[in-house]
Amino acid sequence: MEKESRHSLQAVVDFYLAIATVRHDGVKEHSVRVATLAAKAAVKLKLDARAAYVAGILHDVGKIALPCHLFDGHEITDEEYADVKNHVRLGFEVLKGKYLFTGLVAGFHHALGKSGYGLSIKDFPEDLSLDTVKKILDIAALIAICDYADAATTRSTIIKNGATGTSLREALEKKYPNSILEIDTVLKLI
Ligand SMILES: [Fe+2]
Ligand SMILES: [Fe+2]
Repeated sequence: MEKESRHSLQAVVDFYLAIATVRHDGVKEHSVRVATLAAKAAVKLKLDARAAYVAGILHDVGKIALPCHLFDGHEITDEEYADVKNHVRLGFEVLKGKYLFTGLVAGFHHALGKSGYGLSIKDFPEDLSLDTVKKILDIAALIAICDYADAATTRSTIIKNGATGTSLREALEKKYPNSILEIDTVLKLI
């Protein structure tokens, strides 16, 4: 995040929100809710709130490159779900050139839980410091939890691979067993 120009990153955020509003309004609303929740939780967890907010806004940026009908709220088929999964790598590809930190968070936001998908450890550039890798994974985990919580509380369609018939806390703790503090923090905010 440090090396990513705040000025130009804000321009990307503004442009993305404008495009998402006309293309996938539901995705835009979701992204704003995730970003707001993640930033509030980051403050409590002493993480970088600005990085969390920007990553929250842009975590699903790859969806812009996918057909709108995939996000119109209908219950998607397994075939459509396979297409939807591409949004993480597309998001990484879109951002990695100038905004590597945010791009890696976008690429990892579905990769950390059980039955995850997206980037793998091999996608981290070799010259990235361990400290930066940790910061990326901390923000990615927080975005993942906020993302799941928002989807579970606002979407009427079934979350694929999610635990049904259990509470949100149980579902989150099952999916992200190494992030209990983060889950607790997020659930207190919603
Ligand atoms: Fe996503
Ligand atoms: Fe999302």
